[in-house]
Order: sequence, then C-alpha cells, then structure tokens
Amino acid sequence: MSDGMTAPENKFSQTLAALGVTRPDQLAPLFAEIRARFDADATAAHDEATWKQFRDAWLGRKSGVLTQVTDNWLKPAPPELKRVVGQELNKLRAHVESEIEVRRLAIEAGADDAALARERVDLSLPGVKRPIGSHHLIRQVFQQIEDIFVSIGFSVVEGPEIETPYYNFEALNIPEFHPVRDDMDTFYLELPKGAPSPLLLRTHTSPMQIRTMEKRLPPVRVIVPGKVYRRDNPDATHSFAFHQVEGLAVDTDITFCDFTGTIEYFVKQFFGPGVKTRFRPSYFPFTEPSVEFDVTCVFCGGSGVSAGGGTCSKCKGAGWIELFGAGMVDPAVYGFVKYDPKKVSGFAFGIGIDRLAMLKYGIDDIQVFFQNDVRFLRQFP
Ligand code: FA5
Repeated sequence: MSDGMTAPENKFSQTLAALGVTRPDQLAPLFAEIRARFDADATAAHDEATWKQFRDAWLGRKSGVLTQVTDNWLKPAPPELKRVVGQELNKLRAHVESEIEVRRLAIEAGADDAALARERVDLSLPGVKRPIGSHHLIRQVFQQIEDIFVSIGFSVVEGPEIETPYYNFEALNIPEFHPVRDDMDTFYLELPKGAPSPLLLRTHTSPMQIRTMEKRLPPVRVIVPGKVYRRDNPDATHSFAFHQVEGLAVDTDITFCDFTGTIEYFVKQFFGPGVKTRFRPSYFPFTEPSVEFDVTCVFCGGSGVSAGGGTCSKCKGAGWIELFGAGMVDPAVYGFVKYDPKKVSGFAFGIGIDRLAMLKYGIDDIQVFFQNDVRFLRQFP
C-alpha cells in the first residue's frame, strides 16, 4: 500500500467543491488518478495478509477509499455533477472489486503451488524397503506333507478345534474313564448351564476320522492338518498347543501292506530316500493293530554315533527316532459311523508336525515355533 493513498491529504477526504471541481469534464481525470493509485497498490498485495490490508483500504465499509468517495464526492455533489460522479464511481467500483478478486485467486493459486512444491514426491530418492514375510516353518511343513499325500490320491479336509467329547473320545472307542484319557487331558470351555454337551479343545486331529466317515461313503482317503491342544506342561518337546496331520484311508480291500507302503513312501519323500523305517507294536483304542513308526536317525544316519565320534545325542545312540502313531482302523470305530466292518478296512495315522519339523530341520526346542522371534523365522524363508 503506498503511503500517499491513505494520507489525510488524499483528495477523496475532501469534497469536490473543496477541490475546485465544478464541471463534469473535470471528473474523468480525477477518477483516472484514483484508479492509477489503486492499480499501483494492487501490485503490493502478494500474500494473504497484504491482500486483506489492500482490500480493506479500498472496500472497507467505514473508511475504505470507495466509501470516502461516496461520502465526500457523490453525496454532497451538486445536481449538475452528481450523475457523472455516480457513473465514474460505478466504473471505479467494478474495476476495484474485480481486480481484488483476481488478486485473491492469484494468491490462492500461488499458495497451492508453494504447497505442491513442498509436498512433491522426489522419485529419484531411494525407496523404503519393506521386508516381505514368509510362511511359518510349521505352515511350510504342512504344505510339504499335503503335496506328498495329494500326489497319491488323498484330499485335504479341515475340522473344528472346539470339539465335543463324543468326537474327541467316545466315537474313537475311548469311553469315559478310559485310562487313555489321562494322557490326553485338555481344556474345557465354560458353558452356560443347560448346554447340551460339554465342549473341549481337541487333543488330536482324529475326531476328523469320525466326521469324515459320517459324511462320506468309502472309498475315503483324506489327510487333516490342524492345531490341537493338551494340558501338557511346556518343555523342549511339549507344548499345550501343537499341530498334527491325521491320515485316513478306508476302502473295501485295504491291507496292512497298503498301510506300511503308504507310510514308507511318505517318509522317504519327506526325509529323502536314504532313511529307513520300521514299526513297533503300540496301542491306540481306535486302531488295531496299532504301531509306532520309527525312522533311522536323520542326524547320525542311523549309526548312533555323532560326527565327533561320540554317542548321537538326538537318538541317544539308538540309531532310530520315533516318528508317529498309526494303525489299522479298529472295527469298533466303524460301528459309530454306520460302516459295515465286514466290508471295509482301512488305516489311520496321526503325525505330530512340530516334532517332525524339529527332526527335519535340527531344531532342539519346540517353543521356538511359538515365540515368533524373527531371528528364528528368517532362517526359513
Ligand atoms: C495321537 O494323538 C493319535 N491321535 C495318533 C493316531 C492317529 C494314532 C491315528 C493312530 C491312528 P499321540 O498322543 O501319540 O497320538 O500324539 C501324536 C503325536 O503328537 C506325537 O507323536 C507327538 O509328535 C505329538 N505330540 C503329542 N503331545 C504333544 C505335545 N504336548 N507337544 C507337541 N507334540 C505333541
């Protein structure tokens, strides 16, 4: 804002008579002078603050230039000048208002440009590298097992982790008070009074044998990966939540040879052709006969002697490591799913995945699977 414009000696603070203006032809130069001063002032309005000062100086209701021109020139003008003063004032007002708006828009656009410049993305800067995670080792082992069994005609099914005692125990030929229940104590859900059945966290994936046979007629060939729970105290080989893959094959003519052949095929695919398998008699209420499958120790190659010459610490010198339980499906189980035990036969197995992964990858503490320490997880990309 030029100082002269708002100074007291400004012409518009005096009447036309005081300025000696008596003829209409004297008005045009007078208004041109004001307009020139306005145009000069406009160039000084370069940001929001100076623009506001500029606007108020010219359009302010009380003492803006246009108000003063109205009050001091137009209102007291003699009749022979009034019409021309009015016309000139209207032209000046139109020019002032439009120019002030033009300046406002220019300042706003300038501010936007400045903000854009500030926020502009510099594509030449090096990017932020976000590490990509990987599947958990347990998930990877599930996948390896699924691939092997799917390749020989099994399909994959999944079932609920919250089970009824019927599916988890009774239908698997484990009645209430059977001693096997002591080894499979688990967590029970607190239910409202009057609930139809107690609910528990399944202790194994075997309930899916029953659920599958209830839904499908033979032939059945399924594997069931999943999470299971037991009231076991945590140590290097026990967790209260762990993983199993169940297997079940039932048909009209499945023999013990099919059973051992399938398991041997799986073990060799999983650990490599070098390992040997053996099975020992065992006991499960839902298989008859029942076996434990062992594999030659993957750490000492079955010799029982470690690389340093001492006793292998993993198999304790035995040369064999216990892998999982299995057996031919007990005919009593068929009674729970309305299969005819005279017509069908089959086998089942239940593999503890955490311990299997520990064996394959040389991990000596099961707890690392659940601690989510990235230093461990990163070793299995
Ligand atoms: C069973 O759970 C049977 N359902 C397996 C089965 C299925 C047998 C079908 C016959 C036919 P067992 O209680 O042995 O069996 O458990 C199977 C595997 O789960 C064990 O070999 C072990 O690898 C794993 N396991 C058991 N308890 C734990 C635990 N607390 N923490 C980690 N792994 C465990």
